[in-house]
Amino acid sequence: MNRIASLANLRKVMPQWQAKADMLIESLAGTGPFDAVPALAEAFPLSVFPDLIGLRKEGRENLIPYATVAFNAFGPRNALLAEAMDDARDATVWVAESCHRDRLEPDGWGMQVYEAADRGECSHDEAERLVRSFLTAGVDTTVNGIATMIKAFAAFPDQWQRLRAEPGLTKKAVEESLRWGSTVQTFFRTTARDVDVAGSTIPEGAKILLFLAAANRDPRRWDDPDRFDIGRQASGHVGFGFGIHQCLGQMVARMETEAVINAMLPRVSEIRSAGPVRHRLNNTLHAVGALPIDLIPA
Ligand code: HEM
Repeated sequence: MNRIASLANLRKVMPQWQAKADMLIESLAGTGPFDAVPALAEAFPLSVFPDLIGLRKEGRENLIPYATVAFNAFGPRNALLAEAMDDARDATVWVAESCHRDRLEPDGWGMQVYEAADRGECSHDEAERLVRSFLTAGVDTTVNGIATMIKAFAAFPDQWQRLRAEPGLTKKAVEESLRWGSTVQTFFRTTARDVDVAGSTIPEGAKILLFLAAANRDPRRWDDPDRFDIGRQASGHVGFGFGIHQCLGQMVARMETEAVINAMLPRVSEIRSAGPVRHRLNNTLHAVGALPIDLIPA
C-alpha cells in the first residue's frame, strides 16, 4: 500500500495541487480579515484530496462530520462523541457507501487499492477498509494541520519573515509545524508482550494511550519547545506516530502543506492575526474551530 501513497505517485499530482493552492491564496490575500478554517484550511484539502482518492463528487460535505466522529471515537464514550455521532449519522452511511468499488472513479488511489487486492496483495474486504481509513484519517488531520501552521505563523510573525527570506526552509517549516501543532494529540497501542517502562511493567494486552503531543513538546528532547522555530531540526517528531503503523498518508499531508506555503510565499508579506483563535474540542485531535487572519499581500 505504501507504493500507492508514494512520493512518485504524488509528484504526478503536485502541479495541479500547486495551481489550486495558488488560485486559492490569490483569492484570499488582500481581501481583509477572514476565517482561515473554512476558507483555507478546509477549502484546500477538500479541493484536492477527494479527487486523489477518486471519490464521487456529490456529498463530499460529509467528509468533515464523518472525520469528527471518527476521531472522537478514539477517545472516551463521552458527550462529545455522542453529539458528533448524532451529527454524523448520514455522513457515516455516505462514507461507507462511497468506499465500495463501484462508487470509485477509475483513476484514483481508492481503485488502485482494489486493484492491489485483485493481485492478491490484500483481501477485497481489507481493500474496502483501507479506502475507508484514507477517508477517516486523511481529511480532518490535514485540515487542522494546515490551520495550525497558519496559526503558528500568525503567532510568530518573525518566522514568516524568515521563511520569505529563506524559502529553502520550507520543508523544515512543515516539520516544525507538525511538531509544534501535533494535530493528532494521542493514539492508542496494545502491548503485544509485557513491557518494562521506567521501572514499571505494563502487562501484555494492555491498552496504552500515547501522548504524541506531549512528546513533541518534551523539554528533555526539544530546546524551548513551545517556540515555533522553522530553523529547528524537527525531524524525529512523532506527529505522524512511529513504528510500523506510522501515518500512511504523511507524504500527502506534507505535500498539501507545502503547496499552501509555496502559494503564500510570493503573495503574502504578512500573516496577521485578526482576532482570537477558537479551538474545537475533539477527543483526539487538536482542532481549530475559528482562525481569524488577514493575509497582507506582498
Ligand atoms: C497533518 C496530517 C496528518 C497527521 C498529523 C496524521 C497523523 C497520524 C498519526 C499520529 C497516525 C497514527 C500512527 C501510529 O499509530 O503510530 C496516523 C495513522 C494513519 N494515517 Fe495519518 N496523519 C495525517 C494525514 C493523513 C493522510 C492525508 C492520510 C491518507 C492519505 C492518512 C492516513 C493514515 C492511515 C491510513 C493511518 C493508519 C496507519 C496504520 O495503522 O498502519 N493520514 N496518522
